[in-house]
Amino acid sequence: MAMNLMLMGLPGAGKGTQAEKIVDEYKIPHISTGDIFRAAIKNQTPMGIEAKKYIDKGELVPDEVTNGIVKERLAQDDVKDGFLLDGFPRNMAQAQALEEIGAQLGKPLAGVINIHVDPESLMERLTGRYICRDCGATYHKVFNPTKEEGTCDRCGGHEFYQREDDKPETVKNRLDVNIKMNTPLLDFYAQKGILNEVNGNQDIDKVFADVKAILDNLK
Ligand code: AP5
Ligand code: MG
Repeated sequence: MAMNLMLMGLPGAGKGTQAEKIVDEYKIPHISTGDIFRAAIKNQTPMGIEAKKYIDKGELVPDEVTNGIVKERLAQDDVKDGFLLDGFPRNMAQAQALEEIGAQLGKPLAGVINIHVDPESLMERLTGRYICRDCGATYHKVFNPTKEEGTCDRCGGHEFYQREDDKPETVKNRLDVNIKMNTPLLDFYAQKGILNEVNGNQDIDKVFADVKAILDNLK
């Protein structure tokens, strides 16, 4: 079965961190709506300029924009043997849209992984995060620093940045918005029988070992 996967988890749960490891291991493309928006903002495209208004406030970008992006992305050739969605869908309307897209393209979701982390630890994860400007690898000041200070482990780059929406005021709203949407989505995928829960309150490598056990079973 094609590895058509989706990673769920509140902001800071470790979706991007685990996605890096999953795509290296299973060679499927990583589709993060957040990354797509940030690239569009950087390039100042009309979609990026529109999306920035919402992202800066920690609100969701409107569904018609987000659904359209995913539909276009899933129609591309490189996803024929599988894909890893990260951060989409985030509400029930998006989940319904994905059902339709999956049916039209013959690419239904095969598995969902929810990384569950105690909400109290998310603020610290997000405010301590830094990202390599060259390759996008994600680090944390305390929990996951680069091996050599100032040098990216993955690509050797020396420039890092913090996300604009990782300011404490914005983080608070991102958490509120996402917590509200989360339960119905989890129920929906549990009912479909494709939801897998992973304990995200563990070391990054331990979380990945649990993820891998689930995915090896799916293959
Ligand atoms: P997006 O970029 O998806 O942000 P998010 O969902 O808020 O999640 P993050 O990327 O912040 O967290 P993550 O789970 O990837 O954690 P990470 O691995 O980096 O979306 C941004 C915005 O775009 C949204 O707010 C919205 O406006 C818009 N958007 C995106 N998708 C949308 C959609 N579908 N609909 C509408 N709008 C949408 O890890 C975080 C930190 O913790 C890092 O420093 C990392 O090193 C550390 N860490 C990771 N794992 C561990 C661990 N196990 N232990 C200790 N530290 C850890
Ligand atoms: Mg992320």
